Amino acid sequence: MNHVQGKGGYENLNISLLESKINETGWLKAHIYEQVTSTNDVVLENLTEVVTGLGIVAIANEQTKGRGRLDRKWSAPAGSGIAMSIGMKAQDFPSQLSAIPLICGLAVIRTLEKYSIPVALKWPNDIVFASTNSGHQEQTGNKLRKVGGILVQLVQDNLIIGIGLNVSLKHEDLPVAHATSLQIEGYEVDRHELISKLLEEINFLRSENFNWLEDYKNSCVTIGKNVSVKNFSGETITGQAVDVLATGALVVKNLENLYQITIGDVEHLDVDRD
Ligand code: BTN
Repeated sequence: MNHVQGKGGYENLNISLLESKINETGWLKAHIYEQVTSTNDVVLENLTEVVTGLGIVAIANEQTKGRGRLDRKWSAPAGSGIAMSIGMKAQDFPSQLSAIPLICGLAVIRTLEKYSIPVALKWPNDIVFASTNSGHQEQTGNKLRKVGGILVQLVQDNLIIGIGLNVSLKHEDLPVAHATSLQIEGYEVDRHELISKLLEEINFLRSENFNWLEDYKNSCVTIGKNVSVKNFSGETITGQAVDVLATGALVVKNLENLYQITIGDVEHLDVDRD
């Protein structure tokens, strides 16, 4: 595949450029495709290649059955974003397993901040624009606008870390009204460079003794908000999100109790502003 315009005016990935950037990382073997069902599936099919100290990365120009958290779909037109999954031994990411999805979210934030892009995290790892200074604001009523997400799977002793980011997605192709893209928000970013910076950041956060929690909390717009969250037993809890723990759990407080939420979908009840 060459670096050319694809369907809908989106630019296809340049595979050889990407391969050479990934080879420079030294810790990942690349699988790059025009079209796959899901890059998480590609990693799953190639897990035998994953050994201690050497992972694999799958990247696709288009996913036909991209998956999101909580059994949702993740869809984007070919060439409009980043669909990437990393496979590695869990022991190569020596953090608490339950915190890894949050740390990967933080890696995306730290990478985008290098481009001075003001993104934030909605617990646990939605990548959002929370500021009100976007042309897209009118359609979303000042709500958080989601630009990316992360799906982490644990398969035996392997981690599959899937990252989806809307890069050049246009208004007319948005899957839902509260979605957005870097381009819609006014940021033009080269996907090849962004992918390589993301891989560097994940490598940094997994290998250094880095205090991710303080950084995470500073980037997390859920803390301090009134929220409603359905926990894994189906109970809806409403209260104020007051903290995030080293386990990755969100602490929600109301008049009755303090709850530690480990899995769930959080709805911010306040209007989300700066
Ligand atoms: C979410 O916010 O619900 C998570 C979205 C994760 C999407 C990415 S795209 C690359 C990888 N492959 C998938 O099928 N899903 C993840």
